[in-house]
Amino acid sequence: MVEGRMDCCLYIETAHVYIRFDGTGVVIWWSTGYRNAVVIDMLVRNRVRLPQFGVYKSVTRQLYHVLAIETSCDDTSVAWLDHDPVTHRTHVSHNLKSTLNSMMAGGIIPTAAHEHHQLQISDLVQHIAKEQKNMRNIPRPDLICVTRGPGMLGSLSTGLTLAKGLSIAWDIPLLGVNHMLGHLLVPRLYDKSLKFPFISLLVSGGHCLLVHSTSVTEHKILCESIDIAAGDSLDKCGREIGLSGIMIGKVMDQFTEGINNPWDIQDHVIDKCQLPNPLTKGTSKHKLAFSFSPFITSVKDFLKLHPLNTLTTYQHKLLAARIQESIFNHIITKILHTIENNSSMFENVSSFVCSGGVSANNKLRTKLQKTLHDHFNSFHYPPVELCTDNAVMIGWAGIEMFDRYSQSISNSLDILPIRKWPLEDILRISDFKYSH
Ligand code: KG4
Ligand code: ZN
Repeated sequence: MVEGRMDCCLYIETAHVYIRFDGTGVVIWWSTGYRNAVVIDMLVRNRVRLPQFGVYKSVTRQLYHVLAIETSCDDTSVAWLDHDPVTHRTHVSHNLKSTLNSMMAGGIIPTAAHEHHQLQISDLVQHIAKEQKNMRNIPRPDLICVTRGPGMLGSLSTGLTLAKGLSIAWDIPLLGVNHMLGHLLVPRLYDKSLKFPFISLLVSGGHCLLVHSTSVTEHKILCESIDIAAGDSLDKCGREIGLSGIMIGKVMDQFTEGINNPWDIQDHVIDKCQLPNPLTKGTSKHKLAFSFSPFITSVKDFLKLHPLNTLTTYQHKLLAARIQESIFNHIITKILHTIENNSSMFENVSSFVCSGGVSANNKLRTKLQKTLHDHFNSFHYPPVELCTDNAVMIGWAGIEMFDRYSQSISNSLDILPIRKWPLEDILRISDFKYSH
């Protein structure tokens, strides 16, 4: 608590912030090299009153309605959430999604994703807005939350531009949300036992991160991939072994059903596939990073000597199960390395979250719980339908931020999409404004 002193100098992160109070605890001036958002966050945390933005209050409004839009990659998704900040109850009344079919293309093509969003987004928004108006007599939402990054710029722009237009038309605030923050916070939507601090494994097609979180806006990345993400590796290895579908990781999950311990089953052909556990030997042994591209190389090398058409159906399944298991084993190895090397970060943390598309996988969930139960008391996952990209998580992360800042936070209409937006920079990069 810094309230009440005439002048004060605080040390936040790497910069000094000089603050002058009016004698009653209201900030009348500050000086710092930081963006206002970082300073305001620090002041709000310390419950200091900000005259420019009104007196800091805990809650200003009862039930409010949120329209959420997600278009960061290949899913066009729109959701509607009703949130009561007093009871902390949130009701999801719509969660629509249309996924680009990239089966023929063999991977996501950015221009095709952009076109998909352009074709889909307006109909989804119009459908939800009409239903809210006609069925529930709610003419407009109170807030628009939209994914601002990280992601593909063409994809992000489609959602962001529409959100800006709706914000003007309905005269309601716009909040640009970090996509990974959506994955990280969404387990808290229904699981009220999940409190800060906690550790998250965010494992999707675009990211694999181990994160330490102490509040809605404060996150430290402890381990990340030096090359591709775990989901991308599952998808590419799956494609190499002839699996096809919109989500190959999910197809592989279903294809390997019934094979729970693939390394316990011996097979003279499949035993020749040397699957790696990267960054665990020699000088890289202690590196706190994941690496998933070596799995693809190993699978390709094996298939050169043992083409798919020479394998029996069972060998094919066993190969898929071993690839999946090796990727998950690598994730576990590196989480354990990180715990060993960063023990102070894990003190006083008892909750472990796994979120993102790959967290839908039950074999991964079981493995995490089996190997990490000595380090964590509770394990938390989103409902399966909220593991892969969706707009509900964007609406929920927006709500968490909106309430944290007494419903005063929003973005101006000149914001741009952000291709790379690290979780550690939630406040530093985004130009939030505070309206009270
Ligand atoms: O979170 P997400 O929808 O998109 C990104 O933000 O990247 O994750 C998509 C990834 C894909 O790689 C997909 O194959 C994988 O999640 N995935 C799964 C499962 N369901 C989706 N991987 C393993 N098991 C699943 N059940
Ligand atoms: Zn995602």
